[in-house]
Amino acid sequence: MSSAAPRVSADDALDPRAMREPLPNAWYCAGQAAAVAGGKMRSVALNGEQVVLGRGKDGALFALRDRCPHRGMALSKGKFDGDTLMCPFHGWRFGTDGRCRDVPTLSEHDASDFSRIAVQRFPIVESAGFLWVNPHLGPADLGAVPAVPALDFEPAGCLVLELEVEASFDLTTLSLVDPGHVAFVHDTWWFRPSKELREKVKTFQPVPHGFVMTSHATTTSSPIYRLLGGAPEVEIEFRLPGVRLERIKAGTKRVANYTFATPMGPNRTMLTNALYWSLPALNLLKPIARPLMRQFLTQDQQVLQHAQAGLDRKPTMVLLGQGDLPSQWYFRLKREALEAARDGRPFTNPLAPQELRWRS
Ligand code: FES
Ligand SMILES: [Fe+2]
Repeated sequence: MSSAAPRVSADDALDPRAMREPLPNAWYCAGQAAAVAGGKMRSVALNGEQVVLGRGKDGALFALRDRCPHRGMALSKGKFDGDTLMCPFHGWRFGTDGRCRDVPTLSEHDASDFSRIAVQRFPIVESAGFLWVNPHLGPADLGAVPAVPALDFEPAGCLVLELEVEASFDLTTLSLVDPGHVAFVHDTWWFRPSKELREKVKTFQPVPHGFVMTSHATTTSSPIYRLLGGAPEVEIEFRLPGVRLERIKAGTKRVANYTFATPMGPNRTMLTNALYWSLPALNLLKPIARPLMRQFLTQDQQVLQHAQAGLDRKPTMVLLGQGDLPSQWYFRLKREALEAARDGRPFTNPLAPQELRWRS
C-alpha cells in the first residue's frame, strides 16, 4: 500500500488563527529613523516580540530581540558604543549581528565557549523617514513581502504622530479602508464642514499587494484641500500589511498623508500618521496642523477601542454593501498572502477593477 503524501491544495482551509493574527512575514513601521540617531537605541513592541533597534558607527541599522540570552534582561537598558551592546545585568556583550562577543565574568581558566550564543536578528530597512522591521522568524524569503512605502518627492516638511490603540491589528487596519466611518467619526468642521451624506462613486484598481482609489478634481470642500489651491488629484492606496498612502497633487505642489498600522501585541496596535508636503510655506502651519492631526487620530482611537470591547464579547462582524467591500478586500488580500506563503508560490492579487458606490 502506498502512503499518501500530505495533501496541500488551495482548497485546504487555513488555520483560522492565522487569519485573525497579523501577517507574520511583512514589513512593519517601527518608528522614525531619527529615534536611533547618535548611537541611541530604541525598544519597540512588534507582533508580540520586543525588538531593540539602533544604528552602528558604520551607519548600518540593526534590529535584535530585546532579550539577553543569559537571564532575559532587556539589552536596550544597557549601553551601546556604536559597535557592541552591553547587557546591564552581567556585562555580556553582543555585536550588532547578534553574536556574543564577550562574557567578562569568565575566568581565564574557564574554557566555557560563548561563541555559539547569539541574539535573534530581524531584517530592518529605512524608508520615508521611518524604520521598517520584519518580525518573521522563518527562512528569510523577503521576495514575497510587500515593499516598504517610499516618498516620490522631496518634502519641505513633515509632521508625524503616533498613537497607541487598544484594538486588534485587523480592526485598526480596517479603519484605513473604511469610507463609512468618516462622516460619523471625523465630523469635525475643519475636515468635514458639510453634515450631509453624499453619494460617492469611486473607481478602484488592484495594485501589487493592495488596491488604489483614484479621483481627479475632487469635489470635497475640505479646507485642507482648498489650501493647496485648485482642484487637486487624490490617490489613495492601501497595501498589505496595514499601509494607507494618500497622495495629493495640485500642479507641482505635493502632499502625502501616510498612515501605518503596526501590531504591538494582542489588541495593541500603533497607528502612525505622517504628513509630508513639498511647499515650504506650509511649514508655518505645523503648530496648527499638529493638534488637528492628533484630534483626527484620537477620534479613530476612541471608536476603535469601544468597538474592540464589543468584538471581545462576540468576535463577529457583518460586512454589508459596497462601502464595506474594501474591508472584504483586505481579508481577501491577507488570505492570499497566507495561502501563497503556505504553498510556496508568488502572491497573486485576487482583486479586479471595480466601481463602488456609497454615501459619506
Ligand atoms: S542577563 Fe544579560 S548578562 Fe546576564
Ligand atoms: Fe478614521
